Amino acid sequence: MKEIASKTVYIGVDDLDLDLFEGQYIVPEGISYNSYLILDEKVAIMDTVDARKGEEWLANLSEALGGRRPDYLVVHHLEPDHSGMIEKLLELYPEIKIVGGAKALQMLPQFIDKPFEGIAMKEGESLELGEHSLSFFGAAMVHWPEVMVSFDKATGVLFAADAFGKFGALSKCGFYYKDDDDWACEARRYYFNICGKYGVPVQNLLKKVLALPIEKIAPLHGPILAEGKEECIALYQTWSSYGVETEGVFVAYASIHGGTAEVAEHLAEILKAKGCPKVAVSDLCRDDMAEAVEDAFRYGRMVLAAASYDGGLFTPAYNFLHTLQMKAWQKRKVALIENGSWAPSAAKVMKEMLGTMKEIDIVGESVTIRSRMRASDEAALEALADAILQ
Ligand code: FEO
Repeated sequence: MKEIASKTVYIGVDDLDLDLFEGQYIVPEGISYNSYLILDEKVAIMDTVDARKGEEWLANLSEALGGRRPDYLVVHHLEPDHSGMIEKLLELYPEIKIVGGAKALQMLPQFIDKPFEGIAMKEGESLELGEHSLSFFGAAMVHWPEVMVSFDKATGVLFAADAFGKFGALSKCGFYYKDDDDWACEARRYYFNICGKYGVPVQNLLKKVLALPIEKIAPLHGPILAEGKEECIALYQTWSSYGVETEGVFVAYASIHGGTAEVAEHLAEILKAKGCPKVAVSDLCRDDMAEAVEDAFRYGRMVLAAASYDGGLFTPAYNFLHTLQMKAWQKRKVALIENGSWAPSAAKVMKEMLGTMKEIDIVGESVTIRSRMRASDEAALEALADAILQ
């Protein structure tokens, strides 16, 4: 058991054999379901874990309790990766009181079939454990409506629910935050794909909690943020305000037979030759979609190259733009390349889809390729590169 602060121990578990997190995100380094225990005059469990790793968590809990019985289960977030063991906990400790927001207590019967005694916390209210005192703050839509975070005044630990979470098991990525680049890579993919739509709620939460004297941030996934946490907070400010994190251009393409891929790769070379500080390229047919989404948010400029298909837009590009619509992608410059062998239709659909998003500036003349790139397309591609770099 690892003590993260005075009388506060980590009892969470790693999951290294999950195929897809939330049914859609690959997690090559696994994921952790974090859970904590505060052992004061009163004993509080801070969230349970996914039932997939329930037995391991129960063993951690039992060892950390050392024969004591828990008084409270604090439920910061009800999603099954954190509520999976609530029913079992009620079976073992029927007297335990469940502490959470009113919305969480109202929704809880959707997840369990056991009666429970709930204590509803309102904004700013505290739960006294002895030396430790937990103050609660609403965090609706970070990432579900019932979410609350809590702050322990005694230790300065912020129990942040999904906020500041990261893909990656702790045995792989470390128990404490170490390095900005290393953390940001999978924290960014996690953030934009899971909370990307909820920038405003995340901003509201940051405004409230950053006024607190935070020593450590204890999220529900990934490492604990202590030394250097300011770097992570600064990234969260950029991400949640839809700001540009990295100067450069993201080139995303969806190609059927390679012709569109060739033009996209060529445009990437033109951009580099023109001095673009960073050019990231993604094959929307083969690369991880969640990573493409992450890069679309990371950079301020995107070139989207796609084939026409069935009188519309080739499906991988359509799915990508649809995901960006769902995630409230916004405040970006976009340039378009379409490929069409007889009736090009991709650019029209891309423009329609981009037209539904906030503050998307489509720049330059869309370039149309007929099956394969020709020398005669060069001038139009040069002009498109200039437009996106302007
Ligand atoms: Fe980690 Fe929104 O659940």
